[in-house]
Amino acid sequence: MDQIKAVFNGKFDNLDNIRVSPLSRAYTFSDSIYEVIPFYKSEFIAFDEHINRLQKSALGINLQIDMKKISEEVHSLTLSSQLESGYVYYQVTRGQDIIRSHMYSDNIEVETFGYVVAHEFETKIIQVMLCKDSRWRRCDIKSTSLLGNVLNMNKARLENCDEVIMHNNDILTEAGASNLFFAKDKKVFTPSLDNNILPGITRSILITILRDQGIEVIEGCFNVFDLQKASSAWLTSSTKGIAPIKNIVNLEHSLDLEDSTFKKCKELFDDGFFNQK
Ligand code: PDD
Repeated sequence: MDQIKAVFNGKFDNLDNIRVSPLSRAYTFSDSIYEVIPFYKSEFIAFDEHINRLQKSALGINLQIDMKKISEEVHSLTLSSQLESGYVYYQVTRGQDIIRSHMYSDNIEVETFGYVVAHEFETKIIQVMLCKDSRWRRCDIKSTSLLGNVLNMNKARLENCDEVIMHNNDILTEAGASNLFFAKDKKVFTPSLDNNILPGITRSILITILRDQGIEVIEGCFNVFDLQKASSAWLTSSTKGIAPIKNIVNLEHSLDLEDSTFKKCKELFDDGFFNQK
């Protein structure tokens, strides 16, 4: 296998050669934020949006970061990889402590880490499981503290699922690593950003594309019963694109992969998402 190109604290190397301290706060506290930035046919998809969200996540955890340097590193990684399509994972950690302590010192230096891998942007039809959302209340921050997502997704994997749909007291939030959409009566619905979810960039691109084409998209507060009545449902993310849901294993539903609203949305998305300038 080809070596994975990576960068750690500004130094480029193969991923295998990178060594991190166990006192990195990424390791002891998940005190880090990250982005997953896709590129397709050698062009980034929504680069500025990803960089801006990284900046917002950094502010959300009181981190000062050098966006210019990070942008350059992300570009250099893709160039050095010579890959046509893939994504860059980029993480910023508060830094390394002298000894583990919840309270970080003021002069701690941020630690940055990124790598680039190939990725095929193929449509995958998925099976999901409905799960309770047990995450913290700042899911708008793209933090590496993802234990709520990890535990739910691994419970779902035991039921042969690829993803989860999470809810808080029956109010739908999002998936483990993607945002949720569903269709009913030719309208499209998605939980609004007020529902403690990540402001997904693919979500926002899809909403814009659909509204531009006259399809009604309603952002709001929806419950499990709304999902049960939907004619189709799908998830969105930078790596999945649009992933249609064929089955929710623990919910009676009427989802149809041939639903005309879904098909229209998918067609418009494929056209817009992969042809951005
Ligand atoms: N996940 N919600 C959650 C919890 C996510 O982790 C993600 C992305 C999304 C979709 O966001 P976007 O469209 O900006 O990719 C929504 C990335 C891909 C990951 O953690 O691998």
